[in-house]
Amino acid sequence: MTEQRHSGKSGFETRAVHAGYEPDPTTGAVIPPIYATSTYKQDGVGGLRGGYEYSRSANPTRTALEGALAALEEGERGFAFASGLAAEDTLVRALCRPGDHAVIPDDAYGGTYRLFDKVEKAWGLEHSPAPVSDVDAVRAAIRPGTTKLVWVETPTNPLLTIGDIEALAGVAHEAGALLVVDNTFASPYLQQPLTLGADIVVHSTTKYVGGHSDVVGGALVVRDLEVAEAIAFHQNSIGAVPGPFDSFLTHRGLKTLAVRMERHCDNAEQVVQFLLGHPGVTDVIYPGLAEHPGHAVAERQMRRFGGMVSFRCAGGEEAALRACERAEVFTLGESLGGVESLIEHPGRMTHASVAGTDLEVPADLVRLSVGIETIDDLLADLDRALG
Ligand SMILES: Cc1ncc(COP(=O)(O)O)c(C=O)c1O
Repeated sequence: MTEQRHSGKSGFETRAVHAGYEPDPTTGAVIPPIYATSTYKQDGVGGLRGGYEYSRSANPTRTALEGALAALEEGERGFAFASGLAAEDTLVRALCRPGDHAVIPDDAYGGTYRLFDKVEKAWGLEHSPAPVSDVDAVRAAIRPGTTKLVWVETPTNPLLTIGDIEALAGVAHEAGALLVVDNTFASPYLQQPLTLGADIVVHSTTKYVGGHSDVVGGALVVRDLEVAEAIAFHQNSIGAVPGPFDSFLTHRGLKTLAVRMERHCDNAEQVVQFLLGHPGVTDVIYPGLAEHPGHAVAERQMRRFGGMVSFRCAGGEEAALRACERAEVFTLGESLGGVESLIEHPGRMTHASVAGTDLEVPADLVRLSVGIETIDDLLADLDRALG
């Protein structure tokens, strides 16, 4: 009922507020209760109420979140996990076998690279990095018959490279592989990869989906029911699921995604203009800039260009580190996508795990997650931090 009323036809904001949950029939509770229960009374052996038997397999608070995620990404089914990496690992084990191969971004999030390089590789899954902005390079990295997944982030973390989802889906499908899009940076409000031909969407819901830096979580959304069955089986078999309180917090954040994203984008655009005029900055990286190499593709596949901005410092690594340490309204910290602005040095922080590899990021790079605070305060803070 909820799915019918608030999926395909309703607007994004309506789905964000309502999809996945119908007011509780017993009490009328408007918000999904936190079902802090590990098990459920059965009406006779095997007589489950609504399919609930044990909370690793399913929990009503999690079910509501999963329904909302599926509706917002326009997928068939959504799955919630204890973290983004838990979602990624479950996906890989559900769809790959030892001996298979995956293509991954050559500037992937450091933790994703580490998962493929240090965990999945030992299990027998090979991987090749390729630039997501270069469709031919991705095609060349595919090993026909062996490549099961073409994995992209767009925009990437932290270099904000853009991949053409529609073209990449074509390349993956030609080779019999599935296209996975990590949609963490864009969020479903700015971009819906499944509608562009992708097969699976990955999220670190820790970021924009949760939106308040108060919960770690992950999600997968798929459009094919066979893929959904494989993921459901592995979600239950591996058991890396979020508890009911985490599910509740993530779902609460998700309801305001649209309004938050609009403000993140407004503020990021002004931060970009400020940085462009600053003598301490050599390069501003933002897909909304006409000179960004992925701008035309981003304009086609994204509603706006997001709240993440990266820049390089004229004074090299030392200046980048100093800016991170001097900022005050921009909090020095890892993560992104929360209401508060964050600043970080990818080379020493989020991407330290790719140091010395082909995925190493420039030492003079600073990454901003532009929050929803008063823009004048953000600009004054950056001015002070950059000296
Ligand atoms: C793009 C991207 N994907 C995946 C992850 C991993 O998510 P989590 O930290 O929730 O495990 C992150 C975390 O920063 C990320 O930025």
